[in-house]
Amino acid sequence: MNQNRTLKGGGNLQGIVKVPGDKSISHRALIIGSIAKGETYIEGFLYSEDPLSTADCLRKLGVNIPEIIKNKPFTIKGIGLDCFAEPSQILNCGNSGTTMRLLMGLLAATKGKNFILTGDESLSERPMNRVCKPLRMMGGRLFGRENGNKAPITVVGDKLRGCVIGTPVASAQVKSAILLAGLTASGPTSVIEPASSRDHTERMLKAFGADLEIRGELGRNIVINPGKELIGQKVLIPGDISSASFWMIAASIIPNSSVTLVNVGLNPTRTGILKVMDQMGCDYEIKEPKVIAGEPIGNINVRSSNQLKPFIIEGDILPKLIDEIPILSVAACFCEGTSQIKDASELRVKETDRLKVMARQLKKFGANIDEKDDGLIITGGSNFTAAEVDSETDHRVAMSLAIASLLAKGTSKINRSEASNVSYPSFWNDLENLLNPT
Ligand code: S3P
Repeated sequence: MNQNRTLKGGGNLQGIVKVPGDKSISHRALIIGSIAKGETYIEGFLYSEDPLSTADCLRKLGVNIPEIIKNKPFTIKGIGLDCFAEPSQILNCGNSGTTMRLLMGLLAATKGKNFILTGDESLSERPMNRVCKPLRMMGGRLFGRENGNKAPITVVGDKLRGCVIGTPVASAQVKSAILLAGLTASGPTSVIEPASSRDHTERMLKAFGADLEIRGELGRNIVINPGKELIGQKVLIPGDISSASFWMIAASIIPNSSVTLVNVGLNPTRTGILKVMDQMGCDYEIKEPKVIAGEPIGNINVRSSNQLKPFIIEGDILPKLIDEIPILSVAACFCEGTSQIKDASELRVKETDRLKVMARQLKKFGANIDEKDDGLIITGGSNFTAAEVDSETDHRVAMSLAIASLLAKGTSKINRSEASNVSYPSFWNDLENLLNPT
């Protein structure tokens, strides 16, 4: 059901937030735990729509995943590699690209079984050939609308062969699908990315005992050697820096704010936003850095700064902040000067066309924002006035618009705000707890 919320501009943010579990790691804990032998204990799981879609699909594939209760650790019993049952139902991936693409890799390699994957309206329009094509090179048989590019996708599982695959896009979903397919292939599979994308799959596969090598000067070549059994592990999931980023930017741009985010994942393939905050001259500090279950974490304290500088985002940093572009486009509206976001055409194939949607929605507040083919040009300094805006069903747009509303004069209305349930269901509660209204 559509939830429209009103938010009054003004006030500041003060307090501590324990950000919800990392979405990417939550998906992978379930998927890799399912194909391992023995039990996998999962703590810090993100209880939100996307990872719950993965849990639902895996149950239909015969994995014993208990009912997941918010904030409660749980244990799943893996079934081992190549042991999925042929489901009697269609696998519904909801809004989740990670669910669909990672499962496509595993299912393509499940010989003798057939599967159908579907998703919501948004997911059904997102490109799947980026996964189907490399899997076909390995002998995979995948079919879908528009020559296999769009869901529903039918997968006819088969024994795959190892391959050397250069992917044209730096996408962790594509890389992960190929690596998962490679686990049971007839020989080694080597993936070469144009720039390094998030490496949670590599870290977790190694921790579960896979024979995986990271090669090449920049670690952009990953090789999976099949034949090793995966063994269930204890997975402690850190907070999601992509969810923390709403508060990191909000605290930077809303005067008189100070917010501490605890237990945030600081994997270097995810921390591009900190580099942008450095360009802006934001006032933040990382405290108590440590490594938990193979992933670096820490607490981040952010205080507001005045006279924030504009920034440029381009090139290899894009995959390291790919999900943070919506909130960074809000940040740019409050920097003194013109910021540029380039090389970001991937944003057009996310849950929505995020370049178009952010430009369209932020203009309603009075933002000075120009949409380019591969990015945005944003000049800060315009005074935001309250507006009626719309998430257009995109979770990260909903939350970015909420932060923008806090900086607008008057009371704004955010339509379809419930989109945030995809990755951060407690966002509105956290906002209420942090906000000191004027
Ligand atoms: C994800 C990878 C990214 C990211 C998405 C989650 C993952 O997508 O945008 O939210 O968990 O692997 P791409 O790999 O398609 O860039």
